[in-house]
Amino acid sequence: MALTRIGEGRLPVYIQEARIGMESKHTLEMKGISIEFPGVKALDHVDFAVKSGEIHALVGANGAGKSTLMKILGGAYGHYVGEIYFDGKKVDIRNPQDAKALGIDVVYQEVDTALISYLTVAENIMMDKMVNEMKGKHFIRWGNIHREAREVMKRVGIDLDTHTLVQDLSLAQKQMVLIARALATNTNFLVLDEPTAPLSQTETEELFRLMRDLAQNQQVGIVFISHRLPEIFEICETITILRDGQVVTDTTIDTLTQQKLVELMLGRRFEETYPKIHVPIGDVLLEVRDLNEEYGRVRNVSFTVRAGEIVGITGLVGAGKTELCKTLFGAYPMKSGEILLRGKSLHIKSPHAAVHQGMALVPEERRKEGVLVDEPVFVNLTLPSLDRFTKGPAFVDTRAERAKAREVIQDLGIRTPSENQKVAYLSGGNQQKVAVGKWLIADAEVYIFDEPTKGVDVGAKHDIFALIGALAKQGKGIIYASSEIPEILDISDRIYVMYDFTIVKEFETSEATEEAILFYSAGGQ
Ligand SMILES: Nc1ncnc2c1ncn2[C@@H]1O[C@H](COP(=O)(O)OP(=O)(O)OP(=O)(O)O)[C@@H](O)[C@H]1O
Ligand SMILES: [Mg+2]
Repeated sequence: MALTRIGEGRLPVYIQEARIGMESKHTLEMKGISIEFPGVKALDHVDFAVKSGEIHALVGANGAGKSTLMKILGGAYGHYVGEIYFDGKKVDIRNPQDAKALGIDVVYQEVDTALISYLTVAENIMMDKMVNEMKGKHFIRWGNIHREAREVMKRVGIDLDTHTLVQDLSLAQKQMVLIARALATNTNFLVLDEPTAPLSQTETEELFRLMRDLAQNQQVGIVFISHRLPEIFEICETITILRDGQVVTDTTIDTLTQQKLVELMLGRRFEETYPKIHVPIGDVLLEVRDLNEEYGRVRNVSFTVRAGEIVGITGLVGAGKTELCKTLFGAYPMKSGEILLRGKSLHIKSPHAAVHQGMALVPEERRKEGVLVDEPVFVNLTLPSLDRFTKGPAFVDTRAERAKAREVIQDLGIRTPSENQKVAYLSGGNQQKVAVGKWLIADAEVYIFDEPTKGVDVGAKHDIFALIGALAKQGKGIIYASSEIPEILDISDRIYVMYDFTIVKEFETSEATEEAILFYSAGGQ
């Protein structure tokens, strides 16, 4: 197979060429698919089918096997058993080229690992196409590449400079670039693994418009994975529900209700409400006065958090919530202002200093910042509180460490064969639970959660809410940043709305409504 060199960015990249374009009606069937990893039977005789023009939901709890099934379809795993049929004919998908040759494109859950960060937006979007066009040629028309990339982006509804390096994009923008890349070449089947998790509501609607257009007008068959149930009902016609690696239901969406879906998925009855635990609220614990971040990513922010209080920070994606969390935690440099804990001024110059002064952060980009993916689960869980497991000057009591880790695994329902499993091998949602769990062991005074429920299933969300409630009950201060307004309304005592990197409105939760929050989130005054 020919290797083609591309690379307008700093380093050359070699990618393999392949792909046949097709444009008519097709069916894709997976039959009796099973796959095992050490200690885990991830899929057990799964049947799955999707056809052109259809938007098909793939649903299941964290660790049910959704991503694994789609990775098989995308050629990421070669060691499965079972059969795949394309238009009734048996095909063999054992590597990504096999999948691409059939026009199957998978946009994976781990956005960060799928893009080449030091290349431009245009190069990332046009990667497959460039290779195709270059067959036998030894030059690239960069003008064309950028123009075509702009055209594809227009179809996806994103407005970005094609010369921007991918490393400078937000999560949402990276997601859109990945979708654009899939669509730059002929696609028969498009798999979107939790594409909406990092997207704002407007961006989600934009994506849905695009999905409908692709399905209806271009006969693309789409598989859609999401933990947001209303989205499933809004956009999908058919659905497959996985539980513990097996198919429990395969039906049309109109035969289900949300309640029924959740019960099938979890295998038990479930109330989807988050009973707010009411705890007595104490004195001001944390006070932030006129905080400014060095590069203007937080501007004149003042607020308070009292002991036992859950303070919601909301606003649209990009309003500055993550930037505020990072500045409070010392990950972004503070320019001016003051952070006081129990009236005492803190000196937070780094995350290390923040942890020592009683702050904990569960960050948004968990794979990059929240967990060490190459380390076992127990190491991740106990890392921020290692001093509690240290005997004498330096000996870490690994037995106590493991015992504590097993407790958190139990409490949060982290799906893993044992506390020794590498975090990289956990499903997306379970990695998120590890990122949350490690701070539950650490004994902080103020806990900052940045979009903690992104990508976790409804059952796990419940568990995380319960744990946050338990922390509040212990008199901790909680900052809960999320663009999911219903969640903010459910869990917080008080709400601050951010717009354009500053706080524009404060609400008592009892007086707030979704409409009012949206109004201020959108810059209303
Ligand atoms: N490479 C791997 N090595 C070991 N175990 C793995 C590997 N990939 C997946 N697993 C395990 O297989 C199971 C299914 O994982 P998968 O990622 O498919 O779940 P999922 O349904 O996508 O969950 P989520 O909603 O959290 O993304 C999990 O128990 C996971 O830990
Ligand atoms: Mg997954």
